Amino acid sequence: MCGIVGYVGPGSSLEVLVGGLRRQEYRGYDSAGVAVLDDGGTLAIRKKAGKLAVLVDELAASPIADGHTGIGHTRWATHGGPVDENAHPHLGDDGRLALIHNGIIENFAELREELAAAGETFTSETDTEAAALLVGRAYRETGDLTEAMRRVVGRLEGAFTLLAVHADTPGVVVGARRNSPLVIGLGEGENFLGSDVAAFVEHTRRAMEIGQDQVVTIRPNEVSVTAFDGSPVPAREFEIAWDASAAEKGGWSSFMKKEISEEPEAVANTLRGRVQDGRVRIPELEPLADALADVDRIVVIACGTAAYAGMLGKYALEAWAHVPVDVELSHEFRYRDPVLTPRTLVVSVSQSGETMDTLMAVKYAREHGARTLSICNAQGATIPRESDAVVYTHAGPEVAVASTKAFVAQVAALYLLALQLAESRGTLTHAEIARAVEQLQALPEGLATVIAESSERIAELAHWMGDTESVLYLGRHVGYPVALEGALKLKELAYIHAEGFAAGELKHGPIALIEPGQVVFVIVPSPRHADSLHRKVVSNIQEIRARGARVIAIAELGDVGVVPYADEVIRIPLADRLFEPILAVAPLHVFGMELAAAKGLDVDQPRNLAKSVTVE
Ligand code: M6R
Repeated sequence: MCGIVGYVGPGSSLEVLVGGLRRQEYRGYDSAGVAVLDDGGTLAIRKKAGKLAVLVDELAASPIADGHTGIGHTRWATHGGPVDENAHPHLGDDGRLALIHNGIIENFAELREELAAAGETFTSETDTEAAALLVGRAYRETGDLTEAMRRVVGRLEGAFTLLAVHADTPGVVVGARRNSPLVIGLGEGENFLGSDVAAFVEHTRRAMEIGQDQVVTIRPNEVSVTAFDGSPVPAREFEIAWDASAAEKGGWSSFMKKEISEEPEAVANTLRGRVQDGRVRIPELEPLADALADVDRIVVIACGTAAYAGMLGKYALEAWAHVPVDVELSHEFRYRDPVLTPRTLVVSVSQSGETMDTLMAVKYAREHGARTLSICNAQGATIPRESDAVVYTHAGPEVAVASTKAFVAQVAALYLLALQLAESRGTLTHAEIARAVEQLQALPEGLATVIAESSERIAELAHWMGDTESVLYLGRHVGYPVALEGALKLKELAYIHAEGFAAGELKHGPIALIEPGQVVFVIVPSPRHADSLHRKVVSNIQEIRARGARVIAIAELGDVGVVPYADEVIRIPLADRLFEPILAVAPLHVFGMELAAAKGLDVDQPRNLAKSVTVE
């Protein structure tokens, strides 16, 4: 939450800051602000409630002198509403210092009291202003911005990334982080800071990680990273795997539409280099080789859409590798004394790699003796660094707040893990693994077909349903996580009440919700499988139809059994059972997006949400 960017170099600060904020606006969009320092030491601030566009208009209406040093911020409000006064930057040292913040300073009330008693006045309701005033006071004592930052961070409780500039020191930006994201961009004669690499990928693809509890000072030709106590620490450099154009809309009407169209590629890229000749090899699992040989239980931890990917991972890991798997919401896991042993593998799933609930759960798992594996999409993120090993999904940058292509890539990565484990544990034959690999490799084409063939009809249905107040989703077996994912997409994008249910649960309560006209999506299992799931789900459809529901079935090509009972059938290509959900989810992603669009809503930046949830 909150997007942060910092810059020092010969270029235009304003251009770099506004560009960096634009690329990170998905992190928070309640308000935006910049502080620019010119070479003569004049500090100019502009900040406005609303989206970045409001700030850009303000900068046009009321320009500030540009400079070569600056910091910028987009906010997702925590302490204090989204009004101009609460927007960042906040000021210290009598307006000579500007500071921006991502996270929550938990002891801010005590700090505010202490500062008020010392004669400081507050102009906002934020926790951030306390940090700005403290760093300002420390600067007055030390005359050194880095040292001032070090003195203050030790006093702060909670999670934070802070960036500060001071009028006395043009050409210097100081940052600090604890449990909140910050990465360095390394340029030629210029350097950058950002909440994620999107902040500066337009200018450089060389980046550097900053560890927990570290302070960083950037100058045009120098980057120094130390621990909070001032001792030097090593920092890992990496190359950003994608270029700026990957995070551009490129002619699409929304990032979400573009990202749904990239679902096939996201799966293909996640498989690339990891499957060959009917076998799976994930070199990144090497650091966990001993643990994987010995694992007796897997716990998948994740939130939101990533948790639904984790649920699908459970089906595959149990079916193929015969390891018991629990899937837990990260925030529930960590506060209920979970049983962990050195033979437990905790697998976190996170697109951003920064979700605070998941990060804290990973730390908890490590502290309690479990081994940890991160499945993550964003390079340079914190969760992989806090884990024993990482398997990156290569979905590319996901900009729309609602997760789509990252979801299918997460499922693909979990399936790869399950197949590698199945081979090492001898729970599948080589032929069975080869069959599964073949199915995985067919997914990109299958997804491309579903998206191409269903999107137009789904869009028509969505436009027809503009006034719908509630939509239900039913699925069974692997269709159940798909139902949950479809419902979440509709809630977050179209602000419509939506629930996903296990179809078998229908008669245990949810059927009471069915009244004439209720729209229900049903994910129908293939009739080709020997079990009776298809028949049971078709019975469920008949039960809700009998009570007046309008049924939209997602069913495989050639399934004629469902036709008499559904109002609409959206077709997916044939696939083995565990692969059906990856195909079935795409039309639901399209539906959520189209219904939001039909209601005239902002598909990429739904209200109240942020892409990367970096507070608990
Ligand atoms: O970055 P993460 O994958 O850890 O994010 C987890 C959830 O916050 C995320 O999936 C959220 O539910 C999305 N808005 C769903 O579209």
